[in-house]
Amino acid sequence: MATNNRTPLISGNWKMHLNHFEALKLVQELSYAVSTDDVEVVDISLHPPFTDIRTVQTVLESDRLPFHLGAQHCHFEAKGAFTGEVAPSMLAKLNVSYVIVGHSERREVFGETDEMVNAKVKAILANEMIPIVCCGETLEEREAGEADDKVRTQVTAALKGVSPEQVGALVIAYEPIWAIGTGKTASAEDAQAMCATVRAVVQEISGNDAASQVRIQYGGSVKPVNANELLTQPDIDGALVGGASLEADSFARIVQYRLHENDSTS
Ligand code: PGA
Repeated sequence: MATNNRTPLISGNWKMHLNHFEALKLVQELSYAVSTDDVEVVDISLHPPFTDIRTVQTVLESDRLPFHLGAQHCHFEAKGAFTGEVAPSMLAKLNVSYVIVGHSERREVFGETDEMVNAKVKAILANEMIPIVCCGETLEEREAGEADDKVRTQVTAALKGVSPEQVGALVIAYEPIWAIGTGKTASAEDAQAMCATVRAVVQEISGNDAASQVRIQYGGSVKPVNANELLTQPDIDGALVGGASLEADSFARIVQYRLHENDSTS
């Protein structure tokens, strides 16, 4: 697909960083670093820890800042005895728009399964938020030639029972696990190839319209220096950014990837 009308989504996944004071400071810095021209061509979502969400919501709304509010995780049940968990409706009530689901850290450290990811996708959609569904292979799987199968299996499971219209509206993030937080990035060719595979899987499951509408992000050590090359690939519609989203200048330069073709300053 040479051209498309998918607006790229650049998402900052802050992980377990920044208390609510620090979050407020970063949002204010970002509001200066990102211009109105930038947000005409990209969507931006910020995914703070739960304890920061109310603070970030307040500043986004009171200062009318052009960032969508995101969360990193939620439970799939609507309520109940689930100590430590947060229900999708609680996030919706805070005007959260995007929720990351099935991040590899949640899968590896907290035992999230494909079935749980699927249940969460449905629960998030039922609460009128957009899931960012993560998939990706380990280094061993890549070296064994199993990367495609792994990603196909994860995407197929995540989309089970989801209507084609809903699939078209969601976001899938391809994040090779070996590239997350390691400074190693997939080559633009490898990232493009896997994102094209994800789109092909969506097409097989949900049809042409869903495949041409679904936004597919790349994630894994995205930085200003590599953002342009990755984000100008035909099947890559944005980035899920961890480390580089914690600093306003580097996140803004990723948002402005079109202007930074030869950015080698970080
Ligand atoms: P990273 O994290 O940019 O620090 O590699 C990406 C992610 O885990 O979403």
